Amino acid sequence: MRNLNQDTVTQAVIARFAQTPDPRLKQIMTSLVQHLHAFARDVKLTEAEWFAGIEFLTQVGHITDDKRQEFILLSDTLGLSMLTVAMNNDKPAGCTEATVFGPFHVEGAPVVPLGGDVAQGASGQPCEVSGRVCALDGTAVPGAHIEVWQADAEGLYDVQRPDLGGHQARAILKADEYGRYHFKSILAEAYPIPDDGPVGDMLRATKRHPWRPAHIHFMIKAPGYETLITHVFRNGDQYLDSDAVFGVRQSLIADWTPRSDGSYEVKFDFVLNKAA
Ligand code: BEZ
Ligand code: FE
Repeated sequence: MRNLNQDTVTQAVIARFAQTPDPRLKQIMTSLVQHLHAFARDVKLTEAEWFAGIEFLTQVGHITDDKRQEFILLSDTLGLSMLTVAMNNDKPAGCTEATVFGPFHVEGAPVVPLGGDVAQGASGQPCEVSGRVCALDGTAVPGAHIEVWQADAEGLYDVQRPDLGGHQARAILKADEYGRYHFKSILAEAYPIPDDGPVGDMLRATKRHPWRPAHIHFMIKAPGYETLITHVFRNGDQYLDSDAVFGVRQSLIADWTPRSDGSYEVKFDFVLNKAA
């Protein structure tokens, strides 16, 4: 195959994948080439722009390590993460909706008894969080495995503080026999996603802000049910309509109610979808 030009190169590349044994891989590679080439044609990509793109992705790779996942951040800020979540989490009406996982979940969070303190010294105004885990028909999901994680008052997750040497504002809890859970934590506050890398450069160059509306992350697992990865967002937050990663769903917004002692409380019930 010689003398390929702008009219023939796309089909030539696609043909090169013709022998791919895995049909799904073949489909993905073929479509990727088609769309990538269509994109380059659409914007009439110059060689300098192609190289700038390569340099950008190189920087994304260089800043990525086991604590910093700039590729996920890039996917999040391009809406690809939310698109993938939306396409793969079509649940019956009434089930709690899913949203983006984000890069700050870690394995091995401390197990905290119901009513315990999840904050573990993280800065922030005290807050009590409670609710119930149930099925679509309202029956309790007893003993559901609940993981929670959130940023502190300065907008940082514990994993963003290398000097901490422990966990803060994250925990694993177990719902009681009625599916109920409650824990002490800190008030969720809006925070900017890490913007000191190439994704931050992209946001600034396009006049986008890096802020996420205040939220708590939840991951809930129970035998016989689909795992739910979601957030509860704080009503009234100024970034609910401009989340940097497009993760807000109306059904996930709750009121954080101030109490007379200066603390807050929020209640949220989760409805799990039966596993297929
Ligand atoms: C988060 O909510 O933790 C998050 C999600 C996407 C990108 C950065 C942070
Ligand atoms: Fe978050």
